[in-house]
Amino acid sequence: KKVVLAYSGGLDTSVILKWLQDVYQCEVVTFTADIGQGEELEPARAKATAAGIKQIYIDDLREEFARDFIFPMFRANTIYEGEYLLGTSIARPLIAKRLIEIANETGADAISHGATGKGNDQVRFELGAYALRPDIKVIAPWREWDLNSRQKLLDYAERHGISVEMKKGKSSPYSMDANSLHISYEGRILENPWTEPEEDMWRWTVSPENGPDQATYVELSYQNGDIVAIDGVTHTPHQVMEKLNKVAGANGVGRLDIVENRYVGMKSRGCYETPAGTVMLKAHRAIESLTLDREVAHLKDELMPRYASLIYNGYWWSPERAMLQTMIDASQIHVNGKVRVKLYKGNVIVVGRQSDNSLFDENIATFEDDAGAYNQKDAEGFIKLNALRMRIAAKKGR
Ligand code: ARG
Ligand code: SIN
Repeated sequence: KKVVLAYSGGLDTSVILKWLQDVYQCEVVTFTADIGQGEELEPARAKATAAGIKQIYIDDLREEFARDFIFPMFRANTIYEGEYLLGTSIARPLIAKRLIEIANETGADAISHGATGKGNDQVRFELGAYALRPDIKVIAPWREWDLNSRQKLLDYAERHGISVEMKKGKSSPYSMDANSLHISYEGRILENPWTEPEEDMWRWTVSPENGPDQATYVELSYQNGDIVAIDGVTHTPHQVMEKLNKVAGANGVGRLDIVENRYVGMKSRGCYETPAGTVMLKAHRAIESLTLDREVAHLKDELMPRYASLIYNGYWWSPERAMLQTMIDASQIHVNGKVRVKLYKGNVIVVGRQSDNSLFDENIATFEDDAGAYNQKDAEGFIKLNALRMRIAAKKGR
């Protein structure tokens, strides 16, 4: 009996660790990942060691996360319900994959996580885990125990000698989740959708009105739909995230405050900071505007909400997501070139785009003399035939 626990070292997962040892009497393997949340991981190792854990996994997954999850998702211009850039949703399949890999390596027969029974995250972890290892056992303590309040959790920690230094210090009154794509905030005062979040909640972005009075220009180079350089300097996918988060955050770009529909059926209010992602979505659309065929672009746009829901609902490791990804990736072979954007007080403004694979033809599009490149007379028949059925209907008095 061995279980791999997705362990952050925070209060919740520390309590879970102890609870698994007590209630399930099983050996626990901890897994802590750096996915760009910007927290020290060594304290997690120290705490796991103190709890008697022998097998402690601490992995730097930042490049894999950006390269194999964030970037593929942005090739599709993905947004959920018109607003949400899926910062938490896209990280869960990677955690699920690592949990299963570690279970296989250590001979564990179960995994465990700290997601509640009310949310999306439980679904994402578990759908991923079952897809990658059909016989895996899942232990979700939040769905089993009766420690269903902050106070009960703290009492349990106290009783079992679990350090709760997160009580003091810079602990947040919100339920937060951070990685290199976003920080999310939920809970507490945000549970009233009418209440504006306090300014000091936001951690990565200045408020738009406090952004610099001078705009910041950024030039993004694309290869097959991915950003490969910023201002002419080559960057790895994770470096792209870091760099753009910094420069966009400094200009007040990427705040979002929404009410969204969770897969389990309830509505929930969340605030998000996604500085890099907000720039990436705009800029990718701009490079596609030059390089994609119209019908290809429109078909991508029709399928995008489906793809977004698949990711939101936890179906990253499903056959239909793989199928859509193949199509999306195939659409990106000509998506090469450069986009120039201007960041200013919360705005991302595209000011230029260029590509060797451009389908834009100045000779055809010009308002000046096109020297016969386009025959305006052709448009007459084009319009008349398209109008034919409406003319027939009108003649019949419809
Ligand atoms: N509502 C967002 C989503 O479902 C964010 C979830 C945040 N998760 C968390 N454990 N705090 O993707
Ligand atoms: C949770 O319930 O664990 C966080 C929120 C969510 O998963 O949607």
